[in-house]
Amino acid sequence: MEIGKIKLKHGLFLAPMAGVTDIAFRRMCKKYGAEMVCTEMISSRALCYNDRKTKELARISDGERPCALQIFGNDPGIMAESALLALEFSPDIIDINMGCPAPKIAGNGDGCALMKKPELAYEIVKRVKEALSDKDVPVTVKIRSGWDENHKNAVEIAKLCEKAGADALTVHGRTKDRMYAPPVDMDIIREVKRSVGIPVIANGDVHDAKSALEMFEYTGCDGVMIGRAALGNPYVFAEIVCALEKKEYKKPSRQLVKADIKEHITALVELKGEFIGAREARKHVAWYLKGMPGAPVFRNEVNEAETLAQIKNIIDKAFN
Ligand SMILES: Cc1cc2nc3c(=O)[nH]c(=O)nc-3n(C[C@H](O)[C@H](O)[C@H](O)COP(=O)(O)O)c2cc1C
Repeated sequence: MEIGKIKLKHGLFLAPMAGVTDIAFRRMCKKYGAEMVCTEMISSRALCYNDRKTKELARISDGERPCALQIFGNDPGIMAESALLALEFSPDIIDINMGCPAPKIAGNGDGCALMKKPELAYEIVKRVKEALSDKDVPVTVKIRSGWDENHKNAVEIAKLCEKAGADALTVHGRTKDRMYAPPVDMDIIREVKRSVGIPVIANGDVHDAKSALEMFEYTGCDGVMIGRAALGNPYVFAEIVCALEKKEYKKPSRQLVKADIKEHITALVELKGEFIGAREARKHVAWYLKGMPGAPVFRNEVNEAETLAQIKNIIDKAFN
């Protein structure tokens, strides 16, 4: 598939996830076959205020391109200005968040709340596209199936986004009301795909090769986006690549997982410093250890650990 001039062999996307998809995690997913990764959502207002912490979230490193930068907000002018300001980080794509259900986002008129205001949604995409018209940076939009069961308007919003100039769309097949509850509605993704000419990336509950192939086949989508299944399991991308290339997939050895966890959390500490990095490493280690014998014990130990060296020692014990 292609988004602007960006060519992707399989159409495998890592979903943006606030508090998770930082540079260290994105690099790990790239290593195992994610073709396009994305920053976590970035406040358009905060970017315009030149907020230091926000700019840290927007940073993209060279080892992880192509990488999208996602912005959220509901003011077309501020969204357009922030898209321009975001170019400081050289994103390969600017993605617009129209899917976030969190009360502090959607309750503020941002994220999924934009789907309740189709004209505003259109205006935002149009203004962001206009702002970037001579910049050669594609604009994509991430939507849900709608606000609730009575307002499933993904097709209407998708058509408006396309009319406003969007270069691709991601559809998370759930309404805002359903948050993350299964099952995902593949029918609406298929309907969107049939209604627009731009590439459509399907999102929701893709967690292995089987579910990815099903999603491609049922919806006709151009790509699939994976979120929660990649937590502690960047290997999910390799599994899907193997299935798409009809190759045999071999699960990673314990030695490889152990080395990857260490690489991941070392990068986290390098990026964020030991105090924050070690604390953020705790949840990632817990995800990697999920399902392993003794995991709860090691997880408790990691939750007490304060330094990179301590966490590495616990990982050595867990994988011994
Ligand atoms: C912890 C977490 C944080 C998320 N943050 C964002 C975000 O910043 N922007 C966004 O568009 N979606 C966000 N999402 C939604 C995911 O991108 C994705 O649409 C959702 O998890 C469904 O995909 P999955 O079933 O593969 O997890 C988040 C999801 C989770 C679980």
